[in-house]
Amino acid sequence: MHGRYWQQRWEENRIGFHQQDINPYLIRYLPELGLRSDAHIFVPLCGKSLDLLWLRKQGFRVTGIELSQIAVEAFFAENHLQPHISEDSRFKIYEVDNLRIICGDFFELNKQDIRSIDAIYDRAALIAMNDDLRKKYAVQITNLFTEHQRMLLLTIFFSGKEESGPPFSVDSNAVHQLYGSRWKIRELSENMRCQSASNEDKPERCDQIYTLQRF
Ligand SMILES: C[S@@+](CC[C@H](N)C(=O)[O-])C[C@H]1O[C@@H](n2cnc3c(N)ncnc32)[C@H](O)[C@@H]1O
Repeated sequence: MHGRYWQQRWEENRIGFHQQDINPYLIRYLPELGLRSDAHIFVPLCGKSLDLLWLRKQGFRVTGIELSQIAVEAFFAENHLQPHISEDSRFKIYEVDNLRIICGDFFELNKQDIRSIDAIYDRAALIAMNDDLRKKYAVQITNLFTEHQRMLLLTIFFSGKEESGPPFSVDSNAVHQLYGSRWKIRELSENMRCQSASNEDKPERCDQIYTLQRF
């Protein structure tokens, strides 16, 4: 999924992925990461997710990155926040107490841009990308974080007939292939939630939750 595709979705307000509530898996499983109370959490491909606000409310420092300026500006406007805005050659950066959203391309980030991150929260980032881009994304995440960071990763797995994405189906094998050589993976599979197909053309959809630790 190239950048133009996502820009266009935001321009046309085709944002079915956006949730009006805090993600229940985030609330339930973030404690599994065992983070310090003032940890710094990175949210890749963050959209205008309300999860950012929930994380900040727990006392964490939060940094997101999002390609679409429409999404970033909507996030601050809809939540009645007035960010300080700065700009460099790659990014426009929006900051308000303990919350920073970098507006720009995730693939242009370097380690300096996101120093001091303790954990990553991935909801609808890995599954937003097709196979080729997903591999590139996992390599970038792995190269950016080298110091025992933890990750809460939420994926979706479609069993049976594959639907064209996004969201794309990412099963446990794929997660191990993408991250297994540099991250210790724990699959909370007992917590897998599956929704049966509503009709026979639709695949069954399962939510899967993982915690990872970089080694
Ligand atoms: C499926 S949405 C998920 C958004 C958010 N995580 C949520 O839970 O609502 C994927 C988001 O990634 C953004 N995106 C796609 N490619 C990107 C890139 N290369 N850099 C930064 N953001 C990107 C899109 O604009 C879109 O908002």
